Amino acid sequence: MERFISNGKIRVLAVDDDERMIRALKDILEFKGFKVDLAKDGIEALEKVRQNEFDAVVLDILLPQKNGIDVLKEVVAEKPKLPVVMISGHGTIRLAVESTKLGAYDFLEKPLDAERVIITLKNAVEKYRLERKLDSLIRDSMERYKMIGKSNAIRKIFQIIERAAPTNGRILIQGESGTGKELVAQAIHHLGNRSDGPFMRLNCASIPEELIESELFGYTKGAFTGASADKDGLFKVANNGTLFLDEIADMSLRAQAKVLRAIDEGEIQKVGGAEPEKVDVRVIAATNKNLRPLIQEGRFREDLFYRLNVVTIEIPPLRERKEDIPALLAHYNKLFSEENNVKIRTFSTDALILLVEYNWPGNIRELKNVVEYLVVMSEKELIDQQIAFDAIYRDKGQRRKDYFSYSNATLKKSRENFEREIILNRLAAFNWNISKTAKQLGLDRTNLYKKMARYDIHQH
Ligand SMILES: Nc1ncnc2c1ncn2[C@@H]1O[C@H](COP(=O)(O)OP(=O)(O)OP(=O)(O)O)[C@@H](O)[C@H]1O
Ligand SMILES: [Mg+2]
Repeated sequence: MERFISNGKIRVLAVDDDERMIRALKDILEFKGFKVDLAKDGIEALEKVRQNEFDAVVLDILLPQKNGIDVLKEVVAEKPKLPVVMISGHGTIRLAVESTKLGAYDFLEKPLDAERVIITLKNAVEKYRLERKLDSLIRDSMERYKMIGKSNAIRKIFQIIERAAPTNGRILIQGESGTGKELVAQAIHHLGNRSDGPFMRLNCASIPEELIESELFGYTKGAFTGASADKDGLFKVANNGTLFLDEIADMSLRAQAKVLRAIDEGEIQKVGGAEPEKVDVRVIAATNKNLRPLIQEGRFREDLFYRLNVVTIEIPPLRERKEDIPALLAHYNKLFSEENNVKIRTFSTDALILLVEYNWPGNIRELKNVVEYLVVMSEKELIDQQIAFDAIYRDKGQRRKDYFSYSNATLKKSRENFEREIILNRLAAFNWNISKTAKQLGLDRTNLYKKMARYDIHQH
C-alpha cells in the first residue's frame, strides 16, 4: 500500500486560527475516519508539513504569522503534488480563486459544509494517489528498460506503454531510425501479460521478399528447393508471446495478405501447404516511414494498416526533445566507462552545448555511438568542444551539414529563429537553470526572461 495511507486513514493537516471552528472540523473529519492534525498559524503549518507525511492540507487564507497564500506557495514549492484545499471567508473569495492558479487543489467557502469538505478531500487524495502511482510506475519501468529521458514526449510515451502493455492491443510504433522503436516494443512485451512468452523480431527490410513468408509462417518439407525438413515460422515460435515486425513498410503485399489473415483468424499456414494452425500472438509493428502515402500508392494494404494501428506510438526525433540529451550523455558515459574500465569522462560546458545543439540525424543510436567512441578513444578525461566536434563528424564527409538547420527566411526572421534555437538549446543544456543559462549567454536574468516570453519559450 502507498505510504501516505496509514492504516487506511487519510491524514489531513487542518490549519486555522479559529479554535472553535477547527475543533469542529477535526471532529467531523475524524468521525468520518480521517486522521487529523492541527496547526493554528502559518509557521506551525509549514513546520508540520515539512516534518510529517500528509495526504492533504486544509488551509485558511487569513492566518497570523504567515498568511495562507504564502504558506501555499511554500508548500507547492516543497511538495508540489500535496493537495492543498483553501478555506476562504467572504472577504477573501478573490484570493481563494487566485490560489487555485498558484497550485491549490480547490477552495471551500465559510461556513464550511461538512459533506463538501469530505468529498473535496477524498477527491484530492485520490488524484494525488493516482499521480504518485503513475509517477512511480513510470520511474520503475524507465529504470528497468533504461529508457532515459524526462521530456514530456518521453513521459507521454511511457504512459501509453503502461496503459497498452497489459492489453492485447496491436501497436504501431513510428519514428525515425535510432529513436528507440525496438526498445519500446520490448518494454511493452515485458510489462504485459505475455512477458513469460517469447519476444520474436523480424526485420522485414533485411531479408529478401520471398523469404519473409517462410520466415513468418514456416514451410513444409519439399516446399521449395532446400526445404529438407518442416520448419516453424516466427508466428508459431512466438505463440503466447509477442511478434515484433520491424520495418513493416518493406513487407511484400503477398506477405501482408497472410499477416492480415493470421491476425484476423488467428490462423497460420506453412508455405507448401499443411493444415492451418491456431496461434495466439500479439503483433507489434514498427516503421520509420509514413505508411499513408504507401497506402495511396497501393504498396501497403489499408486494411492491414488499421489492424496494426490500434494504438500508435510516435517517437519524436531526438532534436525535438533536446532536454533529454544531457541525461542520455550522462547515462551512456557511465555505462561505457564502467564497461571499459576507464574513468568516467567530464564534458566541458561548451562541449555539452555543442552536443545539445547538434541535430543528431541518427538519433539516440548515433548519440550512443559518439559517447562510446569518446569513452574508448579519447585519451583525455575532459571532453572539450573540439574533441566532441571531431567525434560527431569523424566519419561524415560533409562537415557541419547537420549542425544547424537553415531556411530561406529573411535575415531578421533567421536571426530570431537562430536566437530562439540557441536559447532553447542552452536552457536544455543547463537543465532550465535560468541563472546559469543567462550567465553563459551573457545576459542578465530579466533579459533572458524577456526573450523567453518573446519567443514563447516555456519549460514543459
Ligand atoms: N530513451 C532511451 N534511453 C536510452 N537509450 C535508448 C533510448 N531509446 C533508444 N535507446 C538506445 O538507442 C539505440 C537505438 O534504439 P532502437 O534500436 O530501439 O531504435 P530503433 O528506432 O529501432 O532504430 P532503427 O530504426 O535504427 O532500428 C539502442 O541501443 C537503444 O538501447
Ligand atoms: Mg529498430
